[in-house]
Amino acid sequence: MDMIKGIKGVKDILPEETPRWRLIEDAARRWSLCYGYQEIRIPIFELTALFARSIGAATDIVEKEMYTFPDRDGTSLTLRPEGTAGTVRAFIEHNRAANPLPQKYFYIGPMFRHERPQAGRLRQFHQFGVESFGTSDPRADVEVIALLWRLLSDLALPDLTLEMNSLGSSGDRAAYTPILLSFLSQRESQLCANCRRRMNTNPLRVLDCKVPECRAATEEAPQLTDHLSPEARTHFDLVLAGLTAVGVPYRLNPRLVRGLDYYCLTSFEITSTHLGAQNAVGAGGRYDGLVETLGGPSVPAVGFAVGLERVSLMLPESSSSVLNECLYYVAAFGENGTRLGLVLLDEFRRIGLSSLCDYRATTLKAHLRQADRSQCRYAILLGDDEAARGSVILRNLESKAQEELPLAGLSSLLKSRRSSQ
Ligand code: HAM
Repeated sequence: MDMIKGIKGVKDILPEETPRWRLIEDAARRWSLCYGYQEIRIPIFELTALFARSIGAATDIVEKEMYTFPDRDGTSLTLRPEGTAGTVRAFIEHNRAANPLPQKYFYIGPMFRHERPQAGRLRQFHQFGVESFGTSDPRADVEVIALLWRLLSDLALPDLTLEMNSLGSSGDRAAYTPILLSFLSQRESQLCANCRRRMNTNPLRVLDCKVPECRAATEEAPQLTDHLSPEARTHFDLVLAGLTAVGVPYRLNPRLVRGLDYYCLTSFEITSTHLGAQNAVGAGGRYDGLVETLGGPSVPAVGFAVGLERVSLMLPESSSSVLNECLYYVAAFGENGTRLGLVLLDEFRRIGLSSLCDYRATTLKAHLRQADRSQCRYAILLGDDEAARGSVILRNLESKAQEELPLAGLSSLLKSRRSSQ
């Protein structure tokens, strides 16, 4: 029969890889809690309208990357392509703004985008993200960026660059767009087909195009940061000064235009030269209008998300050598040994001593071979002779040193040895 395979761009994370994923997720949780963020778990699918209205109908994500399908009653549903929209929807739906602000959330989980799969770009990928609601103070922007920077530095990811830009207020963008368009229309013939289309739908995105001809054509383009209102300029300057004050290095990138429409003012991205074409490890920004756009009160917000596959690709080997380790291999054989071994194994596990046994092995030799393969630290040898003496042999699988110990009270003895180590 034909084998049914997994879907292109949708990966299994195998047991060899889960220790590094746990390490990354544990660090993300630890740093989030340290900065005062609480975990939120939002659904994996939502009404399609939520994403269209928040991310923007003319974005790549909404135009061509969403997994959208009709529910049985015809309602259009979508697998979440990111976590901000769902978090904002939950914030509004549960009337969270009635509680004291600011409120700060984080999430970890799978996201779905129908992109062309390549290293670091998947169709099901995982994000860790944070969203801070209720503060328009630039220090909230500094806080989320510092949290992201500290996490990635703690994980010892190599060659990180923080790129900063300001997208101004919606008024600033409205005033700047005709200036940009008049520049672009003089060079329209040099732009790729996608950018020519974007000139009508989302002209700022032309600045972010990676096609070399488009980059050359827009080299001298007027910059939004030269057209900021005094308020937006002050906000940006305070964010940059805050980053300097807390020792987070950055580079200005006036071309940084995010692929989601909800941003205003601060926008940022952390890139690494270790990632090839998909060089963004994490990104985010301020989205002061989104809560209101989605039918909530006017609540300013700022956040980011990191791609965990990309973090995992960059994680140094040395940080992730922790294996899925079991401590004891219980080698029970012979009639009485097997019977007592079953009970001993359960007793060990009940009090938290990790242990395993290959039930197929029936001789000492077969058990020892499996024990050596298992990467356990110790083997407990329990055959009929030991059963008759009421004891077991504890064997250190590395040094091969052995000692005989009484079977009665063995699990508590080993437990107390472990806690005094
Ligand atoms: P984003 O830039 O679309 O922002 O995604 C954030 C990160 O997710 C990217 O920098 C990248 O590391 C990872 N990522 C995105 N697409 C893929 C993919 N197909 N495969 C692997 N990794 C991917 C957002 O999603 C915003 N919600 C961030 C945010 C939160 N802004 C404010 N709050």
